[in-house]
Amino acid sequence: MYLTPFQERMLKGEFGWVYAKALEIIVKVGEALGSDRLVEISHAHVSGVSYSNIGEPGLDFLRDFYREMPRFRVYTTINPGCVDYGMLSQVIDNKYLGKQALIDEALVGMGAKPVFTCIPYYHRPPLPGEHLAWGESSAVIFANSYFGAMTNREGGPLALASALTGFTYYHGLHELENRVARVLIKISPLIYNKPLSLAGLWIGENVRKVPMLEIKEKPLYEIKALLAAMAASGSHALAVLDGITPKGTYKTSIEETITLEFSDVEKYIGETPGTSETVLGYVGCPHTHPEELVILRRLLEKYREPKRGRLLVTMPPEIASTYSSIVRLLLSRKVDIALGTCPVVSVLRKKYDLMLTNSGKAFFYMRKIHGLKVGIASLKEIVESIYT
Ligand code: F3S
Repeated sequence: MYLTPFQERMLKGEFGWVYAKALEIIVKVGEALGSDRLVEISHAHVSGVSYSNIGEPGLDFLRDFYREMPRFRVYTTINPGCVDYGMLSQVIDNKYLGKQALIDEALVGMGAKPVFTCIPYYHRPPLPGEHLAWGESSAVIFANSYFGAMTNREGGPLALASALTGFTYYHGLHELENRVARVLIKISPLIYNKPLSLAGLWIGENVRKVPMLEIKEKPLYEIKALLAAMAASGSHALAVLDGITPKGTYKTSIEETITLEFSDVEKYIGETPGTSETVLGYVGCPHTHPEELVILRRLLEKYREPKRGRLLVTMPPEIASTYSSIVRLLLSRKVDIALGTCPVVSVLRKKYDLMLTNSGKAFFYMRKIHGLKVGIASLKEIVESIYT
């Protein structure tokens, strides 16, 4: 791999062993993939932040780096941790508060912005063509597809290494010739009456090449759920969104056209609540966007309290403080609000029979990780199931 004189000095340890180690990780992965140079990045987003996920080995790895007091060389954000930073949730168990605090201290001490969210683009929307090194599959696919930024699907350690060095390997989705849409997907009108994450689950499972999606005008929160579902059920990191993905950040060479029918996605609707079941409604995977908060306020205004189960809403701490009047309304309706975390990366205080969510990603992981029955429903259906 070609390295500039500055990168050579870093690799030799002139700036300390932490930077040398971080660059070595990037160079080794890049060489294994056939990359011949590095590229500068402007934003790293580090996943693998939750103690529930990374445990003691991950904590030790981070603390070893932090002991040398390095600083991130680029703007760096971090994914959700495993605790509710608002300390109000009755659904999320804060049992690892102390361990999570050690992780947070290391990352923030190295210079990360304490956003604790999987929608880092809310804090800093990337520009078309901008090179990034992001972990968190739902954020990666959103950055590439919605903003036309360029990032591969990095693991937590690689994103951390890029935050420290300011570089990543030039390969994969950093190269325009790898951003070629080959399958055109048309979504039939009936699917639009349901959460778009249903379509995302099907595309993730069934399409291997980069898809181009013809979607009717849809709110950002639906697009975020659609892309997150694709990235969860498949290995997608880019979908060209016709009319949305900025021109010049992708190419097209359509080989096949698929029309997605409601009958294809129906099976993902999953479970519906029986009368005796305890239901956990869940909104906020990926983290709740202000658009969703506005809809939730409208839906919840007419109710006083849940009739069965709880409605959990997860969001970044900053959105909760910016939209504090909506948050207060939700709290007055006994909505359980958890900040900077989510049920997938944390521990739940008690077991529910069924989770009802608009998120295909939560559908995919809550069944696998927590063994929960999960159903997919619209925001309106979720609220009505719990409050009527
Ligand atoms: Fe975010 Fe947790 Fe879903 S990290 S994408 S809310 S699994």
